[in-house]
Amino acid sequence: MLAILGGTGPEGKGIALRLAMAGEEVVIGSRDATRASDAAEALKELAPDLRVTGDVNDAAARQGDIIFLTVPYEGQAPLLQQVAPSLVGKIVVNVVAPMVFNRGRAKAIQVEDGSAAEESQKILPDSQVVAALQNLSAEDLMQPDLEMESDVVVCSDHREAKEQVSAMVQRIPNLRAIDGGALEYARYVEQLTTLLVNINRNYRCHSTIKIIGP
Ligand SMILES: NC(=O)c1ccc[n+]([C@@H]2O[C@H](COP(=O)([O-])OP(=O)(O)OC[C@H]3O[C@@H](n4cnc5c(N)ncnc54)[C@H](OP(=O)(O)O)[C@@H]3O)[C@@H](O)[C@H]2O)c1
Repeated sequence: MLAILGGTGPEGKGIALRLAMAGEEVVIGSRDATRASDAAEALKELAPDLRVTGDVNDAAARQGDIIFLTVPYEGQAPLLQQVAPSLVGKIVVNVVAPMVFNRGRAKAIQVEDGSAAEESQKILPDSQVVAALQNLSAEDLMQPDLEMESDVVVCSDHREAKEQVSAMVQRIPNLRAIDGGALEYARYVEQLTTLLVNINRNYRCHSTIKIIGP
């Protein structure tokens, strides 16, 4: 079972949709049980036969074997502190890209620990944090008939967890996982999202990344 904490927003719903379409069972987490089940129902209307449910974040964290984190950066630390006991021994996939908006322009937040991913590993010393999926457009993820076209850089200090998440990413057709190395490299991937958001605005598009070479 996959759990998406903060899964009622566009990015979490999009990831839930694509992974459920790939056959995974997903529980969407929220601070509010009704919002969670409404989001699950909305996804089931987009594609047939999805196994998606909704629950409050704490219950979703308990149910999930692999946990995705898709809240805004400011919500990350309080949420993780709250659900930490339910995440012990589990893989936590951090999708957070810390940024603020000023007059329509995105600006990266400088995180004291280097990145949202590293901060989450510090809060969750008994979990295996993997940073991934931060460069995927929620709008594209949410269109079930649109084939995704992107590379997904995956960073972690836990080799097996990184391999497991990379394999899961590649269950979404046409996505390729790229080993980005240790978790300390997640900062560059997170900040790239800020650049992509501004490119989207300049070109009115949904930009993403492809790494040439590997
Ligand atoms: N949107 C994109 O295209 C995109 C692309 C790449 C990466 N990301 C990253 O993915 C994450 C989610 O993006 P999003 O656009 O889906 O965000 P969002 O809509 O702003 O938030 C997602 C969900 O997080 C919960 N939430 C909001 N504030 C919270 C708080 N202070 N504490 C706990 N929960 C809170 C809300 O759910 P409930 O109210 O139901 O609890 C909300 O529906 C962000 O970190 C973003 O940087 C987004």
